[in-house]
Amino acid sequence: MKSLLRIFGFLLITVLIFSATKNEHPFYIPKHWPKPVYDFEANPINLQKFELGRTLFYDPDLSRDSTISCASCHLQYSAFTHIDHALSHGIDGKIGTRNSPVLINLAWQRSFHWDGGVGQLNKQAINPLTHAKEMDNSLEEILRRLNRSSFYRKRFYQGFGDSIITTDLLLKALANFTVGLVSAQSKYDQVQNHQAHFTEQEKAGYSLFKQYCVSCHQEPLFTRNDFKANGLPVNPKLMDYGRMDITNRHEDSLLFKIPTLRNIEFSFPYMHDGRFKLLKDVLAHYSVLHASSNLKSSELNKLNRPLTDHEQKDLIAFLKTLSDPQFLFNPLFKYPKNERNASFENK
Ligand code: HEC
Ligand code: HEC
Repeated sequence: MKSLLRIFGFLLITVLIFSATKNEHPFYIPKHWPKPVYDFEANPINLQKFELGRTLFYDPDLSRDSTISCASCHLQYSAFTHIDHALSHGIDGKIGTRNSPVLINLAWQRSFHWDGGVGQLNKQAINPLTHAKEMDNSLEEILRRLNRSSFYRKRFYQGFGDSIITTDLLLKALANFTVGLVSAQSKYDQVQNHQAHFTEQEKAGYSLFKQYCVSCHQEPLFTRNDFKANGLPVNPKLMDYGRMDITNRHEDSLLFKIPTLRNIEFSFPYMHDGRFKLLKDVLAHYSVLHASSNLKSSELNKLNRPLTDHEQKDLIAFLKTLSDPQFLFNPLFKYPKNERNASFENK
């Protein structure tokens, strides 16, 4: 009887621990990673707000004609970019001017958009919500729709203690979702934590990577909070000069945010304008850079010779170790099943 009680007690504790972890916001700081820069005090996180942000992220009703959600351009299976679309594709089939970036490890990012034009994740969503080629809605109309919905009023009350939905709360809910998109369980991470081994080819690729790439695509995030030129000539159709359009400083011409390379296998096409379809094309670009002197930041001077075919393949093999299936298929990030989606009320 005693041992039965003990087993029962043990089971009860396991269930309690399990439900406690299940009730946590999915954000975490992986082992040995730097401190995040996101201001968690300005927007405290919890699971209810995360779930609310997730429902909003997948809700096309935020767009003018209820056809485009955030997820239309940021799909989980491609690490929250728009797979196979060089330039973003929004309302009424309108084509934007930039490639939709991945949404990964945003809590460590200081500025947003390819040119760093947005300084805070908590403010970022105003852009797509009101952009004429993205969701093309007004904040007044969005708030009117949300405040009319008893589903959302209830969820905002549960998350924020307030059932009157404001722009501030809407943005905080969305950021509660996007800040939770942590990817840190790739093969690369397992190797760092001594849980897996690289193949010989991956090892060779990693060593080339540390020689030529890591100065900008810094570990463990595979980016650093900076803007650089990686040798791409300006796109003559778009005339996008990146960072210079924000700062008006000539020396910032053609600098773009260094993107993370995590999940790069799935986030094609590549670069701010999606000009390269395949990783092979990206490597071919870096491999002939030694011949062009301008248009590139000094970190690339080390790459003063062409990369052989063999080396390019090794680098690609290494880049594929940054794929994180647990992120790409995490059920917590998927289209949420709840009563909001079961029956679009008030429509
Ligand atoms: C029509 C396509 C489209 C829609 C819809 C869209 N986005 Fe984006 N998103 C983009 C593009 C393109 C960029 C890059 C903009 C730039 O660099 O100027 C971007 C950038 C971002 C970034 C910054 C990422 C970074 O690393 O710099 C975040 C965060 C983001 N979007 C979240 C959202 C949220 C939240 C929504 C819904 C409210 C949304 N997006 C709707 C296309 C879209
Ligand atoms: C001078 C800094 C710098 C160095 C060194 C560098 N990169 Fe980049 N990389 C960038 C920048 C900046 C971009 C984005 C450029 C743009 O979109 O215009 C980029 C983009 C990429 C992309 C596309 C990412 C995406 O999401 O579209 C890949 C892949 C890539 N780099 C791989 C590499 C590899 C492999 C090396 C080493 C051979 C390397 N990079 C070296 C700065 C650098």
